[in-house]
Amino acid sequence: MKTLLVTGGAGFIGTNFVRLTLDKYPQYKVVVVDKLTYAANRDSLPEGIDFVEGDICDAELMDQLIRDCDIVVHFAAESHNDNSLANPRPFLDTNVIGTYTILEAVRRHHKRLHHISTDEVFGDLELDDPNRFTETTAYNPSSPYSSTKAASDHLVRAWIRSFGIQATISNCSNNYGPYQHIEKFIPRQITNILSGLPAKLYGTGEQVRDWIHVDDHNTAVHLILEKGTIGDTYIIGADNDHINNKQVIEMICEMMGGTFEHVADRPGHDMRYAMDSTKLRTKLGWKPQYTDSMREGLAQTIAWYRDNENWWRDQKDAIEKAYAARGH
Ligand code: NAD
Ligand code: DAU
Repeated sequence: MKTLLVTGGAGFIGTNFVRLTLDKYPQYKVVVVDKLTYAANRDSLPEGIDFVEGDICDAELMDQLIRDCDIVVHFAAESHNDNSLANPRPFLDTNVIGTYTILEAVRRHHKRLHHISTDEVFGDLELDDPNRFTETTAYNPSSPYSSTKAASDHLVRAWIRSFGIQATISNCSNNYGPYQHIEKFIPRQITNILSGLPAKLYGTGEQVRDWIHVDDHNTAVHLILEKGTIGDTYIIGADNDHINNKQVIEMICEMMGGTFEHVADRPGHDMRYAMDSTKLRTKLGWKPQYTDSMREGLAQTIAWYRDNENWWRDQKDAIEKAYAARGH
């Protein structure tokens, strides 16, 4: 049995990755390391794993955990753009120094690494630009968050080339699904409507995000672990780049019987992301499971937040207060 070390496993995508692994990939023993920041929820993690509370910037701890595992899947990050505009420093620490710390331990112990990254490293596209991001698109990040993710990707590539580490990278678009922190777009709107509040649309809402269900992201990660070429990067996307924020909010309002209002826009707001996942589909045979322009995935996600109010209710007031202070 191989040991998978999952960094950031108590966050949104990591938790879903751990659940999927226990369910569908029994060949792995799972160890999670997570600092349990505000974005984490220890209770999201299932039984049957080893959990270590710790910081990926802690070189001694990471050396020990990486020595004792076979594969590292690196999800841990500060992940929210709005927070990076208010206070960039933790993004530099975790996303850059944390990744560096992991790379050095992976190098020392000759372990396999998969680095989880984002489409935001490529910057944004104009609404009428027919292009999509590919594995060779030049980096052009816009926010403190995306620039630190870009830095972490560059570090991984440099460690592959200079030190020959056994690593792969994936850049995925916006995820949605169960266990996502309610500061993020889709769960914020769902929990607003469940709280009797209007959904909140930044600016005009014409921005486009190429939404993907979190399970589709995570099956792609497993496929890359199984069949990916060492040193390669894979774009992950589910072809939803025709749906803008206003249409997503309208779908949620229609499905839940809610209303929405326009609020202040995000400074430097990226306009459009669009992913070309041809390489992943043709070389590794990946296909997303959720293919109906989000309706099935949104219905499942809405049902999850409705059924799991105890998971999010305690945080709701504080989050809305913080958003209100920023005009959002
Ligand atoms: P999240 O904010 O929900 O979870 C991040 C987790 O990392 C939390 O559990 C947090 O406690 C942990 N963490 C933060 N700093 C840490 C540190 N110094 N040491 C150990 N643990 C630490 O994020 P997410 O949405 O699950 O994103 C996971 C990864 O996927 C990130 O690398 C992000 O850049 C990437 N990504 C996210 C999306 C998306 O739509 N959410 C899309 C593409 C890529
Ligand atoms: O593209 C991948 C990225 O997706 C990940 O790398 C990030 O970790 C993840 O947070 C996400 O970034 P975004 O900034 O795109 O996601 P967010 O959920 O914050 O916002 C999605 C869109 O919705 C964005 O255009 C801003 C808008 N928005 C957001 C909130 C919170 C609203 O209109 N209203 C809101 O209340």
